[in-house]
Amino acid sequence: MRVLVIGSGGREHALAWKLSLSDRVTEVLVAPGNAGTALEAKVRNLEVDTNDFTGLIDRALAERVDFTLVGPEIPLVEGIVDAFQGAGLRIFGPTKKAAQLEGSKSFTKLFLDKYAIPTAEFQTFDELDSAIEYVEARGTPIVIKADGLAAGKGVVIAQTKKEAIDALKEMLSGEAFGDAGRQVVIEEFLEGEEASFICLCDGKTAISFASSQDHKRRDEGDLGPNTGGMGAYSPAPVVDRKVHKKVMEQVISPTLNGMIEEGSPYVGFLYAGLMIDKHGNPKVIEFNCRFGDPEAQPVMYRLRSDLLEACEKAVSGELKDYHLEFDERVALGVVMAAGGYPVEYETGDIIEGLDVTASNTKVFHAGTIEVEGEIKTNGGRVLCVVGAGESVASAAEFAYARVNNIKWKDHYFRGDIGHRAIKRQSD
Ligand code: AMP
Ligand code: GLY
Repeated sequence: MRVLVIGSGGREHALAWKLSLSDRVTEVLVAPGNAGTALEAKVRNLEVDTNDFTGLIDRALAERVDFTLVGPEIPLVEGIVDAFQGAGLRIFGPTKKAAQLEGSKSFTKLFLDKYAIPTAEFQTFDELDSAIEYVEARGTPIVIKADGLAAGKGVVIAQTKKEAIDALKEMLSGEAFGDAGRQVVIEEFLEGEEASFICLCDGKTAISFASSQDHKRRDEGDLGPNTGGMGAYSPAPVVDRKVHKKVMEQVISPTLNGMIEEGSPYVGFLYAGLMIDKHGNPKVIEFNCRFGDPEAQPVMYRLRSDLLEACEKAVSGELKDYHLEFDERVALGVVMAAGGYPVEYETGDIIEGLDVTASNTKVFHAGTIEVEGEIKTNGGRVLCVVGAGESVASAAEFAYARVNNIKWKDHYFRGDIGHRAIKRQSD
């Protein structure tokens, strides 16, 4: 079978690599992919943009693609699944309507409320004065979110009233995120530990992937600006058996049932970003309609089951008696980024040391490009180096052993990925 993966990041490298390991897959095409996907056996890049639906459909038909998997949220939110299905192509992912769970924060908050799924208290606003009034009544810390897609940057955790008001002004005026910010959600600040809970859904049934956690802040100690994620590990110690059960019962099942009620059954990866409080109770921070990045890299590294078979079962509504198997070891991924990410950074630097291998590791590429035989940086998050071991600490040791051999002009990575989990395991 020939399979198409849409996207070009580290998540897509991990998905394409995992698909290529299936005996049933003859070739994986990645549109547009990166230098890392091009290097994998059985994988070939296609030069088509992720938002060019017509171009993608034409190529999928011309290449006789049997099955397509979508990495990033933007094409999903814009209806790529509907478009492929309209052309008679088999594709795994939520429809445009179902992808609203990520595409519109206000849709999601109202949905959570309607189906009594635990989340932070909130209100939506499109008018400055009433938004300010609400902030004044609630006090700080308080969380302000742009309603639409803002590439993971549309969230401000305001510690002071001034910060809150500044954020509201910037968002509601359209200055900060254009139309995505003209409606805002203001919500209660949640305390606890975050976890990423990612499921495979067939519309009626959801089965969970191994749990994971990522580090969203750029700098060590979980400080500095928010990013797409500077590293991740799986499993997440905070998601023990009891928490897992609560998440399935209180969050995932009612979400699938609610989406059926809403007339748009959810098929695809469903990523619940959760805050787990000190009693082990989960609240939904956000939903994503795709796999996490960089969570995909350690989770796919651990996945033992055939990813193609799993996604095909989801598309045909047959997940009921299916289950996924994972390597028992911990996997931990360290993101290597360009200095200055996520604000201003350079691209086009030659990456050295990629060929220095180390046991129990795998390098997933994200922002990389091959130019005349050399691999160069081509984005903010450049690589995610995964290591696997018996504990979080040993997985980290393997990963960093490999990281330390890779460099370019102004590379940057956090040296403390997994620190919270390591502390938990050593307590
Ligand atoms: P989001 O884009 O909604 O995932 O938010 C980005 C990050 O902001 C999350 O991963 C959390 O770290 C933080 N965050 C969002 N909402 C809240 C909240 N209500 N309370 C505390 N932290 C939050
Ligand atoms: N790592 C966070 C995300 O994929 O949304």
